[in-house]
Order: sequence, then structure tokens, then C-alpha cells
Amino acid sequence: MVNKKKETAAVAALDFIEDNMIVGLGSGSTASLFIEKLAEYAKQAQLTLTCVATSEKSAALATSLGLNVVDLDDIDQIDVTIDGADEVDAHLNGIKGGGAALLYEKIVAQSSKRNVWLVDTTKVREHLGQTKLPIEVIPFGSTHIFNYLKTHGLNPVFRRNVNKTLLETDSVNYIIDIDISEIKDLHQFGSDLEDFAGVVEHGLFLDVCDALIIGDDDSVEIVQ
Ligand code: 5RP
Repeated sequence: MVNKKKETAAVAALDFIEDNMIVGLGSGSTASLFIEKLAEYAKQAQLTLTCVATSEKSAALATSLGLNVVDLDDIDQIDVTIDGADEVDAHLNGIKGGGAALLYEKIVAQSSKRNVWLVDTTKVREHLGQTKLPIEVIPFGSTHIFNYLKTHGLNPVFRRNVNKTLLETDSVNYIIDIDISEIKDLHQFGSDLEDFAGVVEHGLFLDVCDALIIGDDDSVEIVQ
């Protein structure tokens, strides 16, 4: 069943799309709803759009719906990227990576003139950290990173598939989810993680989002 709040946000995001744009496509259930709405809208309004996807799944969905998906390296800059988030605060900072696409999502975001996030009302927080923070690590030495995080009280958990095997990202890395509910300075924490060899990316998206669409059952709030 379609989540009404996510759908409302996805429809509202169409207002950010114009003819001839290069559009970044996020990942996850809300971003997928947006991709569906975008494909319908592009057909109906006869828009010429070029899309860049943040995951193999989003690329496959968009292509199956007739959208033109190209590689990020085939274009100069993305006009607008529409993506979901797991948590967001009043400063438009957020946690992403629930769908394990954080690495490509962050690369696409930094190549975009404008980043628009779609969330439902349940994801808005006063402080980030209720959701586990995903960290993408290369497989080599990942147990050592895991042990380090454990020693520091961050309750790490390797993300697994339903059959219990370790989940691999699109770039064949692992995800370790950690508890950051006690961390006060998230900017500092994010840069500490970035200094750690073997950590490819983390799901703290700080100072990335330019506009936030918060979907409710029959209305949206846009914060920018
Ligand atoms: C994927 C993401 C998603 O955007 C995030 O997990 C939100 O997902 P959903 O829209 O399914 O709630 O960051 O890596």
C-alpha cells in the first residue's frame, strides 16, 4: 500500500522540475514514488529530461518507466536532485542511507545545484540520532573498524540481507549501522569518521539539503 504522506511529498516535488533539466533521482521508497510521478509528468507535459540515478534500483525503475538515465560522468552538473531521507532536523541536516545508497547519494548531491528532500511528518526531529547512522566501509579490515566502533560505545551492527549474509552496496562495500544518539557535535563526528581509513562514506548529510518537502496526508510543508 502506498504511503499517502510520502506520495503527497513526491507529487509536490514535481514543482521543482522544468523542461530540459538534468534531474538526480534518489533512492528508497519515497524517491521511487517520485520517479513514478516524474515519468508520468514528463510524458504528459512532454518534457525532455535527463536523469542521473543514485542506485542501480532507481536507475532500473526510471529506465523501465521511459526516463532517460545517463551516467553521472556523462553530464556536467545536475540541476536538481530529489531524494528521500531517514531523519531531518529544522536546519535541513539529515541522516540518509536506510536504503544503503548513501555513497552514490552523496556524490550525486554534491554534483547538484539544488538538493530537495522528501520526507513524511514522522521523520522530522529536534535532534538527529533516533535512526541508526549507516557507515559504508570497504570489506578489507571491516571487522577492525567494527571493533573500534564497539569499543567507543557506538553499538555497531553489520547490515545483513534477509538470508543473514552481509549486505553489499552497489559499490560492493559493507554497511555498519551505529548509534549516534549520544553524539553532540555531529559535524565533528562526521569529519572524524571521514578521517578513518576504510570508511568510504557515512550517512550524515549536513548542509546538503536546500529544500525540504514534508508530506502529510493531504498537504505539504516546504522548508527552504
Ligand atoms: C537510501 C536513502 C533513502 O532516501 C532513505 O532511507 C529514505 O527511505 P524511504 O523513502 O524508503 O523512507 O537514504 O539510501
